[in-house]
Amino acid sequence: MHNDIIVETHDLTKIYGDGAEVRALDGVNLTIRRGEMVAVMGPSGSGKSTLLNMLGALDRPTSGRVLVNGQDLASLRDVDRFRAQTVGFVFQFYNLLPTLTARENVEVPMQGQPISRSQRRQRAEELLHLVGLGERMHHLPAQLSGGEQQRVAIARALANEPAILLADEPTGNLDTQSGMEVMGLLQEINRQRGMTILLVTHDPRVARTAQRILSMRDGRIVDDHTVGDPLSEDLRELARSLLGRLLQEGKAEPLAAVGLSDNGRLTPAAQTLAELLAAWG
Ligand SMILES: Nc1ncnc2c1ncn2[C@@H]1O[C@H](COP(=O)(O)OP(=O)(O)O)[C@@H](O)[C@H]1O
Ligand SMILES: [Mg+2]
Repeated sequence: MHNDIIVETHDLTKIYGDGAEVRALDGVNLTIRRGEMVAVMGPSGSGKSTLLNMLGALDRPTSGRVLVNGQDLASLRDVDRFRAQTVGFVFQFYNLLPTLTARENVEVPMQGQPISRSQRRQRAEELLHLVGLGERMHHLPAQLSGGEQQRVAIARALANEPAILLADEPTGNLDTQSGMEVMGLLQEINRQRGMTILLVTHDPRVARTAQRILSMRDGRIVDDHTVGDPLSEDLRELARSLLGRLLQEGKAEPLAAVGLSDNGRLTPAAQTLAELLAAWG
C-alpha cells in the first residue's frame, strides 16, 4: 500500500440480522488519500454510518478488508488503542459529557495516553483556541450553543492527533449558519493541518465544501466525483432529484403539472434539459 493512501477497502460487506438480512454494505471498494476531504451522501439507510463505523473499527465487517493508516483492521492487536489514536470521531449529537467543562471534555481521550496532566491541559487549551473557543473553556456543554458544542467535539476528536477524522452528520443538528461555521472549521483543519476528513451529510451545500463526494445507495457507492464548479454541481443535483429523474425517464404525465410537458410529450425545452441531465445522472 502506498504511503499516501490512508484508507483502503476491498469488497467491504456488512450484513445485519440472520432472519431478514440487511446488506448495509455490499462490496464497497474505496480508496482515500492522505489529506483529502471527502463527503458521503445518500438516502437514509444507504449504509453511510455503517461505512464510517467500519473504518473506525466500531464494528466488524461480515466480509472484505479494511486498511486504515497501513493497519489491517482484521488483525489489530489492540482495537481500543486504534480507536483512541488513529481515528477521531465526531457525531451528530456531539456526545459531550454534561458534567465536564469544555476543556475537561477535550482532555478525556488523552487520559490513558503517556503524557502528563499539565501537558493534557495545555493541549486541550490549544485545541479549544484552534476551534475558536479559547474564551469558553470553562463552560459546561449546557452553557454552549449547539455549534459551540460541536466545535468542542471536534477539538476532542483531534486530541490524540488522529490520522483521520470521521464525522457522521456533524451539521445534522445545527441551524444553517452554525452548520456552515462548523464546515468552515473542518475545511480549515483539512487545509492548514492536512487532516484527512470523511464526513457524512444529507446537505448538498455541506457536501460541496469537500473536494470529493461519494454517493451511496443500498450499501454501494454509486457515484464518486471530484467537486466541480457550482453549475456542474447544480446540474448533478438536479439530475438526481425527482424532477431530474422524471425528465430523464420522459415521464410526461407528472411533468404536465409543472409545464414541462404538453399533450403527453415533453416540451422542446424539457427535452433539451433531459438530454443535458442524462450526462450527469
Ligand atoms: N445495528 C444494526 N442492526 C441491524 N440493522 C442495522 C444496524 N445498523 C444499521 N442497520 C441497517 O443497515 C442499513 C444501513 O444503515 P446505516 O448505515 O445506519 O444507514 P445511513 O447512515 O446511510 O442512514 C439500514 O437498513 C439499517 O436499518
Ligand atoms: Mg447514518
